[in-house]
Amino acid sequence: MCGIIGYIGNKQATPILMEGLRRMEYRGYDSAGIVTKQEGNFQLVRAYGKVSALADKIGGHSPAGTIGIGHTRWATHGPPNEHNAHPHLANRIALVHNGIIENYEELKEELIKDGVVFASETDSEVLAWLIEREYSGDLFTAVLKALQKVRGTYGIAVLASVGDNRLIAARRGSPILVGHTGGGWCVASDGAALAGKCSQVLYLDDEEVVACSEDGCQLYDTHGNPKTRGMTDFNMPVETIEKQGHAHFLMKEIAEQPEVIERALSITDSAPVLDDGAAKNLEHIMITACGTASHAGLFAKYLLERWCGVPVSVEFSSEFRYRGAILPGASLGIVISQSGETADTIAALGELKRRAIPTVGIVNVVGSTIAREVDEVRYLHVGPEISVASTKAFTMQVIMLLRLGLELGLQRGHIDQELADEINAAFQELPGQMQLVIDQAAAIADRAIAFKDFEHAFYLGRDLLYPIAMEGSLKLKEISYVHSEAYPSGEMKHGAIALIDKNLFSVCLLGKGELFEKSVSNLAEIQARSGIVLVITDDQKHASRHPDALFIQTGHQVTAPLVFNVVLQLVAYFIADGRGCPIDQPRNLAKSVTVE
Ligand code: M6R
Repeated sequence: MCGIIGYIGNKQATPILMEGLRRMEYRGYDSAGIVTKQEGNFQLVRAYGKVSALADKIGGHSPAGTIGIGHTRWATHGPPNEHNAHPHLANRIALVHNGIIENYEELKEELIKDGVVFASETDSEVLAWLIEREYSGDLFTAVLKALQKVRGTYGIAVLASVGDNRLIAARRGSPILVGHTGGGWCVASDGAALAGKCSQVLYLDDEEVVACSEDGCQLYDTHGNPKTRGMTDFNMPVETIEKQGHAHFLMKEIAEQPEVIERALSITDSAPVLDDGAAKNLEHIMITACGTASHAGLFAKYLLERWCGVPVSVEFSSEFRYRGAILPGASLGIVISQSGETADTIAALGELKRRAIPTVGIVNVVGSTIAREVDEVRYLHVGPEISVASTKAFTMQVIMLLRLGLELGLQRGHIDQELADEINAAFQELPGQMQLVIDQAAAIADRAIAFKDFEHAFYLGRDLLYPIAMEGSLKLKEISYVHSEAYPSGEMKHGAIALIDKNLFSVCLLGKGELFEKSVSNLAEIQARSGIVLVITDDQKHASRHPDALFIQTGHQVTAPLVFNVVLQLVAYFIADGRGCPIDQPRNLAKSVTVE
């Protein structure tokens, strides 16, 4: 999704803006641009396509000036092309905008009547012209007045060519942070843009505005009242957002799971999410999330119900907000989000808060909106996840949810310490088991590549392996564009089995344990219809009888599915690679989906 970077200081802005844009490329975008100001003039360069296209266009004519703003755009209003790319100029105003101005059409009509001629089809340009209309030398006041007129969401950075030499940024529903760096101040919409540059940042809250000059930054509310808030420590070394020798961020993030999970496991959360009384009185757990994070929630549902003895519902955030769901009294809301900025999930969190339900966030990005708005936050501590397809965050989301389930189960007296110790010990074994799979990557690649020309796939698993099948299936479709669906293995025979033919392959997850025999029967149902299968199993006997099966070593039944999941991550990776897909930036997708 869109990315904002801005700089004001004593250095040339262009290199700082371009570096910031490159670091936000992972988010997914379709055009990019920068503007600097020097001696009362704007120098604007925009390009359709990648930041490298923008760099080519700049060539040896770097826009001069020590103040500037830049943007990567993910199209919403108007197709991706150069004239819809940001920054937008409106006479004396330059603006970059993330979010959506919902009443832009009526505002645009009003401005057209005033004689404005629009150069783009975007909602963002409307805001630029609103600011221009209000501007009489004080940019801060003009921005405040214009923002009063807009409905919707925004993260903005704004400059004036003449009169006011400040860089103004504001936020409603779309992140903005500010840090001191490089002899000046940077504003950005994503911490990655500031990685390795700042040790402290200020995260804007909704309805806050910041005015930065070369000498300092002042925070305000949207009525213009000054506010004081301390900076937050910010630790994002630049290596964490580099590929470090891997061909893709996705492979780096798959491969580093053993190490990051081991490190994250060593960090323990001190305070319980609920006090003992509230935990005992709990009647229901409501989990809300999107995409991969919702699969982590579904996985947790199976175990949290067993461990806590209360019903657990998992709702897509995009549905929960609007469907008027009835929740039993005494609920706990669990909100899962890698980025902490997913608009649907933020909206679902808002709905939980409106109903006065206590909330806990399972979040990766420190200081993100969800992390700051929930009652309690449990961070994943897996470091920045750059590839659009989520991998290490999913693994740790599951672990954090299960840890929370054990905590609540113990408080409620529904499980004993022995079980909690057993599961915690199983977590400790997980990094080693994942490493064994990663060491098998070449063999997995050999098997996976045989399926690269298929256009359809089924992913099948039972019990805890069903959410894992869903996650594996999503991974495949996201990065390889293969149409893929996940089913509980036992559900196939109720309809989907009609699709079994030579054009479709089925990934069958056979986990040892109670449901193993039944899963084998489901596999037989597919094979009896000449279905093409890729079997992944941790059952040694089955693997020795079926040499085509991929055998993996797992441990405890609760953590074994996470080992299967690493195999599925690799399968998706190798199929996508074999098909020549742009693995880290799949078409149409964005890392952080900040629009509803
Ligand atoms: O940042 P979030 O965890 O809130 O993101 C939720 C989904 O958009 C995300 O998991 C998406 O499905 C990923 N591309 C999955 O790989």
